[in-house]
Amino acid sequence: MADLRHKIDFLVLGSGAAGLSFAIQVAEFGTVAVVTKDQASESNTQYAQGGIAAVMDVTDSIENHVRDTLDAGAGLCDEEVVRIIVEEGPAEIRRLVSKGALFSKENGHLHLGREGGHRQSRIVHAADSTGEVLEQTLLQKVMSHTNIQILEHHFALELITDHHLGQHVSKVRPDISCYGAYVYNEAKDQVETWLAKCTMLATGGAGQVYLHTTNPRVATGDGVAMAYRAKARVANMEFVQFHPTSLFHEEARSFLISEAVRGEGGVLTNTKGQRFMPEYDKRAELAPRDIVARAIDDQLKTSGDSHVWLDISHKSSAHVKRHFPKIYSRCLEVGIDITKQKIPVVPAAHYMCGGVYTDVNGQTSIDRLLACGEVSCTGLHGANRLASNSLLEALVVGRRSAEKAKMVKESSDWMDSLPNWDDSGTIRPGEWVLISHNKDELRRIMWDYVGIVRSNLRLERASRRLELLYKETEAFYRDSRVSVGLCELRNMIAVGYLIVRSASMRRESRGLHFITDYPETSENERRMTLI
Ligand code: FAD
Ligand code: SIN
Repeated sequence: MADLRHKIDFLVLGSGAAGLSFAIQVAEFGTVAVVTKDQASESNTQYAQGGIAAVMDVTDSIENHVRDTLDAGAGLCDEEVVRIIVEEGPAEIRRLVSKGALFSKENGHLHLGREGGHRQSRIVHAADSTGEVLEQTLLQKVMSHTNIQILEHHFALELITDHHLGQHVSKVRPDISCYGAYVYNEAKDQVETWLAKCTMLATGGAGQVYLHTTNPRVATGDGVAMAYRAKARVANMEFVQFHPTSLFHEEARSFLISEAVRGEGGVLTNTKGQRFMPEYDKRAELAPRDIVARAIDDQLKTSGDSHVWLDISHKSSAHVKRHFPKIYSRCLEVGIDITKQKIPVVPAAHYMCGGVYTDVNGQTSIDRLLACGEVSCTGLHGANRLASNSLLEALVVGRRSAEKAKMVKESSDWMDSLPNWDDSGTIRPGEWVLISHNKDELRRIMWDYVGIVRSNLRLERASRRLELLYKETEAFYRDSRVSVGLCELRNMIAVGYLIVRSASMRRESRGLHFITDYPETSENERRMTLI
């Protein structure tokens, strides 16, 4: 049974931009295991298109980037955090270039793209495949480091805390520590105990909680759910960002059409051929995402249409193909030539602005547990994330967290008394249809009742239905041996619950949270939602 128990200095859960950048730095101070539930590159990071926001041009300034972030965040950003992350961004870009990241250039300089909410072109990108270039650059570094092992198809199930030492952990006991995680090794079909002096939660977002999403299959909110069960503080979960333009096509429903297409002059029209964005905001197609997504939602609800159009065909074919090679070829595969035709688009769940509450160094409310990237909530995004600020945050906070992690002292010997996973009395589940049915039901409930526009009535309905799903799934889980599908379902229900509960706690509309019962923003409600 020796292979059931492992000890390591740093345990990293997740292999996107956040987990990998942290792993690279801490590998200089100790041994690292990166646990990831699919193949290593499968992550939101891999699919990022637009780029990384950073002040890289003399005509731009830190002050401008800070102001744009605060404006998008609708009064809920932590200005100190915004300033630190924006200030440290340019150095991260320079480091990536020195690691070999090939970003797009023009006349020998980085080409800077434009996206909604940015008053200036400041998006560093690699055409429309920025995420792939970033993920591959970081992965190469990780794979060549002798101190790092990558464990693919390993699913983190639960964080190990004082609770597993048989100690009562409650809200009134703030001194909880994390000692690692229970991890399901799919190939061996066994749950292993990974003990570490410091654990980094970098499991990304939760787009899969919604029926329509730009996120890949792995984005099921496992990290937030695990941290919540471990009694960590979770913040701002009502702020779910819907990307205005995901491709509306049966064969490619989750494919993103980057905001950079609008940055290069793409125009939105309804099915009558009318350009509608100027009616909603003077910045038109380049207004922040919450405004554009709500405008499209309004157009669809009043017309009964299934989609709106995004048109970039007025630009030269060469220009479109040079800036958007991936979007061009993916659309062509499904019969749309974007150099000549309009693109059918709809909004889709895209980014979780809330998450595990941390400071700007990734410290959560649990000792020895750090969190970074989309799973976390540092205060950078407030009520609405500014486009391309997410990869920036993952890189800057990843580095700062590593500095924090290297200070963490060795754990005591009593770590040895932490038990292994106990699955006695459980059986292999036979009723797979329960899992798939409940997943589908959850995703539809969230889409229909907790989407772009909310109401008290819809939130109450969602809450009642989620409770039923929760009870059924927990009963099933208690009797079953671990499986990835069942654990993901359980986590998705927990995330759904956190979103509904947070949305019900906010009695105003702000940023991404729009509720018809309280359509105005209220100064009295200007605070984080903490659970
Ligand atoms: P991820 O990159 O999602 O990585 C999470 C990792 O955790 C994955 O490896 C996953 O498999 C693993 N994992 C999850 N659960 C478990 C578990 N239980 N056990 C083990 N492993 C687990 N942001 C920008 O700033 N600019 C952009 O241009 C941009 N474009 C985007 C385009 C798309 C289509 C999408 C979906 C997002 C985009 N975003 C963009 C957002 C950005 O990509 C993500 O927020 C960011 O990549 C998150 O990085 P991360 O490391 O936190 O998480
Ligand atoms: C995009 O390319 O539109 C996505 C950018 C982001 O989510 O930050």
